[in-house]
Amino acid sequence: MLSTDIVILAAGKGTRMQSSLPKVLHAIAGQPMLAHVIAAANTVANGNKIIVTGHGAEQVEKATADSGSVFVQQNEQLGTAHAVQMAVPHLRAEATVLILYGDVPLISPATINKMLEAVSAKQIGLLTINLDNPTGYGRIVRNSADEIESIIEQKDASSEQLLINEINTGVMALGAQQLIDWLPQINNNNAQGEYYLTDLIALARANDYSITSIQPTSATEVEGVNNRIQLSQLERAHQLQLAEALMLSGTTLADPNRFDQRGKLTAGTDNFVDVNCIFEGDVVIGSNVRIGANCHISDSSIGDSVEIKANTIIESSHIGAHAILGPFARIRPGTNLGEGSKVGNFVETKNTIVGKGSKINHLSYVGDAELGANVNVGAGTITCNYDGVNKHKTDIGDGAFIGSNSTLIAPVTIGEQGFVAAGSTVTKNVPADTLAVSRSKQQNLEGWKRPTKKED
Ligand code: UD1
Ligand code: CA
Repeated sequence: MLSTDIVILAAGKGTRMQSSLPKVLHAIAGQPMLAHVIAAANTVANGNKIIVTGHGAEQVEKATADSGSVFVQQNEQLGTAHAVQMAVPHLRAEATVLILYGDVPLISPATINKMLEAVSAKQIGLLTINLDNPTGYGRIVRNSADEIESIIEQKDASSEQLLINEINTGVMALGAQQLIDWLPQINNNNAQGEYYLTDLIALARANDYSITSIQPTSATEVEGVNNRIQLSQLERAHQLQLAEALMLSGTTLADPNRFDQRGKLTAGTDNFVDVNCIFEGDVVIGSNVRIGANCHISDSSIGDSVEIKANTIIESSHIGAHAILGPFARIRPGTNLGEGSKVGNFVETKNTIVGKGSKINHLSYVGDAELGANVNVGAGTITCNYDGVNKHKTDIGDGAFIGSNSTLIAPVTIGEQGFVAAGSTVTKNVPADTLAVSRSKQQNLEGWKRPTKKED
């Protein structure tokens, strides 16, 4: 099987980010840019990854420690050829080498694949693109037969070469042995006094290699990030791709430009997502789900035909089919809402199981609790789960009714069909089919007079 060594350059400082965070750790869709490059590299079968770090090396290595990469440090940034040279001791001589960049995050597996296929015995692959404004980039110099002869950097180019629109994206693929042979021949006699990786192209030609140029499917694949404006532009471009994939798989988005996916989203069909929703981590959605505006859903699963009304937040929870949530519900980790249950406005749940058909419709806190089926929790009910030291559980049986503004002091159990009168503070277990009232009886005092204002 062919082996591939993928060298990812990530040593640059990223001065224009104006940040203490190394550039390659700035996030696109909630993941460091470098993590996107690593994910693309991981699609290559039998691929080894060698990451060249420099500025913020420790931070970069820590953030990607579990990526199965080899890290090499480039202590001084003497140029792209010098950076690749750092990786040479880790190359397998028979491997094909692919050069990627930690600050060019959206390179696609399809393009990587095309690049690797372009490499053969006397051939290397170069990823190029035509730009209306090629300023700043290395220009692709072709001969009269239209074959690539060399790359000339902007600062070294003649006024005639500056008119070339085809530019070097920086991504190239070639045999490890060629890199090993040619890198030491590159010098820094150029306008920037740097060791240019781009000089490899002329060296390849001098050694009778031909250069196959590959074009990316979209320009965003090869766009780099130097400042936070470019970061936001790539973020939006990437989000639009994710939104389009979701729409093509059967979800309607009210506005694909107001959609954010930061992680993995798996969805069925005929879902509707209103504007400004954020999906984070691992989210699984069934079919026929409606999600209102401004919802934030992370690491959760949502059953079929669920309705999530606007401004609802759901974290690490499971929502059963046909449940109705919000508006303004806050579903905290460990919530499991049963089929057809309802959690309404200004209700907070945490580590709570809500049985089939149960309702917590208004203004409640229900934490560390287990509710059976068809329970009704009245407005303003609080499970007092915390005694200042420990958390305790509240158990509510099937069909129980908790009157409004009740406080349930855990640990406490309300039996099946139990009934708690509104405004009660429940400190003792309530047996099944029993009414608990824990407030003083109302007295109406006849002839009572309001206080009157004292004369001075
Ligand atoms: C490079 C290419 C240029 C191409 C452009 C595409 C060279 C000489 N030029 O130019 O043809 O059009 O990319 O964006 O390769 N890096 C290191 N160590 C170093 C130098 C750079 O890790 O010593 C990393 C940087 O962090 C960056 C990348 O390599 O991620 C490119 O380096 P940069 O200096 O930005 O190259 P350009 O001048 O943009
Ligand atoms: Ca650059």
